[in-house]
Amino acid sequence: MSKPRRPLIAGNWKMNNGGQDGIDLARAIAAECRGANAIEVVVAPPASLLHRVAEMIEKVAPGRVGISAQNLHSEPNGAFTGELSASMLLDAGCQWVIIGHSERRQYFGETDESVRAKTVAAMKAGLLPIVCIGETLAERDAGRTLEVVYRQLDAFSSVINEKPGTAVIAYEPVWAIGTGKVATTEQAQEVHAAIRKRLEGVSRELSRGTRILYGGSVKADNAAGLFGQADIDGALVGGASLKLDSFMGIVSAARQVA
Ligand code: PGA
Repeated sequence: MSKPRRPLIAGNWKMNNGGQDGIDLARAIAAECRGANAIEVVVAPPASLLHRVAEMIEKVAPGRVGISAQNLHSEPNGAFTGELSASMLLDAGCQWVIIGHSERRQYFGETDESVRAKTVAAMKAGLLPIVCIGETLAERDAGRTLEVVYRQLDAFSSVINEKPGTAVIAYEPVWAIGTGKVATTEQAQEVHAAIRKRLEGVSRELSRGTRILYGGSVKADNAAGLFGQADIDGALVGGASLKLDSFMGIVSAARQVA
């Protein structure tokens, strides 16, 4: 089976692998991605390492592994201590940026409004957004999954429709992140299909061209089942992206369906 959209596997290192371990991992991933790439591979190291990871990938396998930041500020510059703008991230070697991860929403007060503003800033600067959405366990148990996901999606869908197919959406049920509780393939596909249908209301091109990644306890052994689903175009991987073998196991599973 081949996928209509090029599968994408993104590794979100979060606040891990911040030293030589991160550089070594980037070198090893790049070496594994030197050949023809039916799928797209992206790594998101901590901000402090972006530049060095970009240099390493450029040395080992230029253009074969994308580099993503984990966050950005929506303003281009100014008095925002500790923050980084889209142009600074481009300068550090990024092509991508993760926006609205549930940890950012939960611990750093990000809202649908800030996610929209950050998506606008990224698109304007030419940084490709990976925008995260997903319900909590309480919301799922209350039968509110789609209501929540639609609200989060509607906040930025018109923004990404300006260049349909360039931005990526990551559906990550919050209850499946870092818990080992992966959504069943059916649960994931159901929400992915609903997201794609919702995008159809914005534009056909957006609905057809947008890659929707699944995230939440993706591992090599559950990846194939997820990637076999019609509307799952890859994965945003946390824990399993921190080591070469577990990450490449997921990449291999995506290569099987590409
Ligand atoms: P996990 O994290 O794979 O460790 O569940 C996913 C994510 O937070 O993007």
